[in-house]
Amino acid sequence: MAITNLNPLRYPGSKGRSLDFFANVVRESGFNGRQIVEPYAGSASVSLGLLEKGLVSSVMLFERDPLVFAFWYSAFFRTQELLESIRTVDVSLDTWKALDVYRQYETVPEDQIVQCGLAGLFFNRTNFSGVIHAGPIGGQSQSSAYGIGCRFNKVDLMKRVEAVAELGSNVEVYFGDALQALKDASLVQNDDRFFYIDPPYYTQGKKLYRYHYQFSDHENLAAVLAAANYDWVLSYDAHSVIEFLYDGMNQYRRSFRYSSRVQKVEEELLISNAALSGVEEGTQLVLFDEVDVPEVDALLENAVAAA
Ligand SMILES: C[S@@+](CC[C@H](N)C(=O)[O-])C[C@H]1O[C@@H](n2cnc3c(N)ncnc32)[C@H](O)[C@@H]1O
Repeated sequence: MAITNLNPLRYPGSKGRSLDFFANVVRESGFNGRQIVEPYAGSASVSLGLLEKGLVSSVMLFERDPLVFAFWYSAFFRTQELLESIRTVDVSLDTWKALDVYRQYETVPEDQIVQCGLAGLFFNRTNFSGVIHAGPIGGQSQSSAYGIGCRFNKVDLMKRVEAVAELGSNVEVYFGDALQALKDASLVQNDDRFFYIDPPYYTQGKKLYRYHYQFSDHENLAAVLAAANYDWVLSYDAHSVIEFLYDGMNQYRRSFRYSSRVQKVEEELLISNAALSGVEEGTQLVLFDEVDVPEVDALLENAVAAA
């Protein structure tokens, strides 16, 4: 089964549902066989999916959110301890409150990496829409039909962690700042790698991620990429400011018609310093791979505001 369906994280802005699209672009644009670097990892759905399909030789991930980084580090390199912590965790509001202390961490203490990794997974699977800084599904009163554990199926999650861990020998995971990593990368030869860059959204970033970007960060990213000595592919929410920042680069606009209980169309920009092949413009139907809970997602805004 493809990693799209086995990714343990239910990540806001995940590109997992577009894996086939990215696989086609990588093949057609001649990037296959190289290492993929994903400096804004999130659920790393594209990198890990391409690795699983054998289209890239290895994966290098960077992530700035300590709990998301700790989850991936633990999943790949402390797998048995993470599995045991999933097996034994009590999925309850009391645990949610007890783990809250890890949300204050700005870095990951070496001796607490698995606890932080579990906390990352726990908040991702028990919060509204997988948002780490949101409130718990079912609210603090747990009076809704969907309780805190409705997306935390231990057996299923353990299977997913075991499946991704199998890729670990070809994965590197770093806690750090993407912009610094992207700058540093130009100091070495990069013929055997390409970069897939999926920064926090321009309009929705603050709502979805604890670490998100101000306008100046988006500007800095554009400047770093303009000077890069490597091939990069960037995805963004379609916005005229982003089109402006990347004027002169290859830009492709894609629409997705999401099919779930709520129909919605979203537009995305794909930008690259290389001329990409395999990018057909137009509308693509993307199916959700798990039944969504619209009532839960509709509460996202209030939950984030209240957190
Ligand atoms: C749009 S999401 C990436 C989604 C990912 N492509 C996926 O398929 O799940 C952006 C990610 O960048 C992370 N992030 C935000 N600021 C960062 C920074 N300065 N350096 C590295 N990662 C950062 C966020 O925590 C979030 O996980």
